Amino acid sequence: MQLFLDTANQAEVEAAVRMGVISGVTTNPSLVAKESGDYLARSKYFCQLVNGPISVEAIALDYEGMLKEARELAAIDERIVVKLPLTEDALAAINVLSKEGIKTNATLIFSANQALLAARCGATYVSPFVGRLNDIGQDGMTLIEEIKTIFVQFGIKSQIIAASIRSPRQVTEAALIGADIATVPFKILQQMIAHPQTDLGIAKFAADWQKRQ
Ligand code: E4P
Repeated sequence: MQLFLDTANQAEVEAAVRMGVISGVTTNPSLVAKESGDYLARSKYFCQLVNGPISVEAIALDYEGMLKEARELAAIDERIVVKLPLTEDALAAINVLSKEGIKTNATLIFSANQALLAARCGATYVSPFVGRLNDIGQDGMTLIEEIKTIFVQFGIKSQIIAASIRSPRQVTEAALIGADIATVPFKILQQMIAHPQTDLGIAKFAADWQKRQ
């Protein structure tokens, strides 16, 4: 399973690229709103830095507006993936964009049917939101499992991005199920690195080394 970083923050992307652990970046309007500066220029920089897919969400919600914005975003760099929230207009837009060779990420997916529809109209990626489903008392990981089963059963090529990840354990679970990608906030990436036994082990090795004859 590949890891994408779920952030619009430049320092976080640079740190993750330095470690060599991420294959792409996903952003959304809330993440972009937290940062200052020109987000389109930053998205282009991320494309060069990561050399992988960078998802940028269209703000327009109507069909014509989505198409216009998607084409403008895609013109920034061939690695830009246009994120569209799952609506009837978005499905129609993805249908056209996929035929133009523009990569899309169907976002805000909360059911297997939504994922199936997005895949059928040609979405490159589908993004089921695990954490937000758990927030309302449902099981986000079961959704990943259902989508995976359906996509395998019918040879569907759209890639599954496990999104809205809130804990390192969810990354492991998404990988075990066979999600193609998990997109993780930088904080979760740091939590994936850390283990108390690693810290204790480092401290003990250092102490033993100091005591050597
Ligand atoms: C995914 O593409 C979204 O940007 C993201 O995972 C949403 O996560 P949240 O539910 O923690 O905001």
